[in-house]
Amino acid sequence: MPAPPRRGPPRPSGPPGRPQQGPRELLTVTPDAWTQRGEAVVHGDKPLLVWAGIPGEKSLVRLQHEGMNQGRARWVEARSPHPLRVQPPCDRYDLCGGCPLMHLNGEGQDRARRALLRDTFKAQGLVLDDGVVEPIVASPLGAAGFRHVVKVIAGWSDHGHPRFGAPSRGTRSVVPIPDCHVITPVLREVMKKMAFLAIDHDLRPWSEDGQGVVRWMIARQSSVTGEVLVTLVAGRSSPGIGRWAEALSGEHAAVTGIHLHLNEGPGNSIFGRDGQGLVGTTNLLGGWTIPERLHGVNLRVGPGDFYQTNPAVANLIARDLVQLAQIKPGVPVVDLYCGVGGFTLVMAKQAGWALGVESNEGAVRRAKESAQVEHIPAEFIAAEVAEAAPALAQRLAGRRPVVLVNPARRGLEEGVAEAIRNLRPRRVLYLSCNPSALARDLRGFQAEGWRVTHIRPYDMFPNTAHLEVLAVLEAPELAEDEDEASLRAPQRRRVRA
Ligand SMILES: C[S@@+](CC[C@H](N)C(=O)[O-])C[C@H]1O[C@@H](n2cnc3c(N)ncnc32)[C@H](O)[C@@H]1O
Repeated sequence: MPAPPRRGPPRPSGPPGRPQQGPRELLTVTPDAWTQRGEAVVHGDKPLLVWAGIPGEKSLVRLQHEGMNQGRARWVEARSPHPLRVQPPCDRYDLCGGCPLMHLNGEGQDRARRALLRDTFKAQGLVLDDGVVEPIVASPLGAAGFRHVVKVIAGWSDHGHPRFGAPSRGTRSVVPIPDCHVITPVLREVMKKMAFLAIDHDLRPWSEDGQGVVRWMIARQSSVTGEVLVTLVAGRSSPGIGRWAEALSGEHAAVTGIHLHLNEGPGNSIFGRDGQGLVGTTNLLGGWTIPERLHGVNLRVGPGDFYQTNPAVANLIARDLVQLAQIKPGVPVVDLYCGVGGFTLVMAKQAGWALGVESNEGAVRRAKESAQVEHIPAEFIAAEVAEAAPALAQRLAGRRPVVLVNPARRGLEEGVAEAIRNLRPRRVLYLSCNPSALARDLRGFQAEGWRVTHIRPYDMFPNTAHLEVLAVLEAPELAEDEDEASLRAPQRRRVRA
């Protein structure tokens, strides 16, 4: 049988550049910082990334790869181990690489993320007043079982067997993660069933040369009812998909909806959009959505919709948004990049009206339905933020709204920060999963005279170096008469289904 196609270029076969030192060489080093991904790094002529290392801990490490621009090593031992070091509780910690801070206890992880946030802001030249950056808000469910979504990639093992799991750390193969600690116990079971049944039904990993079928399998569990929504992302259609879905729904009672998304495009994006910008999905079995509940508001989440990874933390954010936005009844709220409308609806309840903008039409449909069911006065527009913003500025002229933005990792697209300022908001709340993009965008606001009053980080993704960060920006000026005028002239519109 010919070898299965790999998903990318082959792995480097050896360390170029230093032939006198093999890749298994042992070195003693003391890392001095964290990388954005959560590896310890030794800076020098060229950086050495130390998996499982800790800055400040003098350690013996094994060199694994030496490239032109950086080297990679694995921590072996330390004569005086760092007091916050622990044995990672996962046997795939090394292979998977999805939890780079799992070798630290809670306090150690917290310190690492705080240091990273500080370094990121510094690197971006963001200067903040003392006390603006608050302590990290902890994950209520701790560091295990908090993830309500699992994205299983299809690929090949090092030996050429089909595999479903996580991209392997440092290679292009895929590693099964049957006992993954960070997803819910039900998602662990569903993930295993999805993978075994894919093998049973000969649904092989898709490759860009048109062979195979499966690209991703995504399962999201409702934090309210425990129901699971599954989306199979396939590179092409196959009769085996229907049989796989039938078998899966029979094998796990929690699975209440199974969908297919066809993504024939190149690249690593999970979802492709059609000519109209839609994330198209086909219902294979069961229901279209699962319920979620955010700060007392009932929502629906469908296949292809974004919803926060850690719903318990999302609840804390929703609580804080209401408090930090200082929303008075009558002040309009605009929620840009609103997804299925959770934060929009929470804020609309407080303010009496809110408007959400989101490019994913399916998510907007769900948001409108939730508004109607919950009797919350909110409107939703399916559009790109940059396109919708000018009309919003006209509509809200003289109203001084509160604006919430929660863009994807890349941050605000070109022109969006200016479009937001043209809405003449009294306050902007900026929620981000990428502190670097956040800092860049905050600097732009500061340059226009805006003041950053709060930076509140949340431990949305325990065991990783990532943080969800909420920033509050105050407008340079707000005349009292303007405030009064905006409250006297509420422009409420009826919610349209
Ligand atoms: C990080 S998610 C936030 C969703 C929502 N705030 C929540 O917490 O559930 C970003 C959202 O922005 C949407 N999006 C991405 N680019 C967009 C754009 N240019 N215009 C409008 N929405 C966009 C995505 O579809 C996604 O739903």
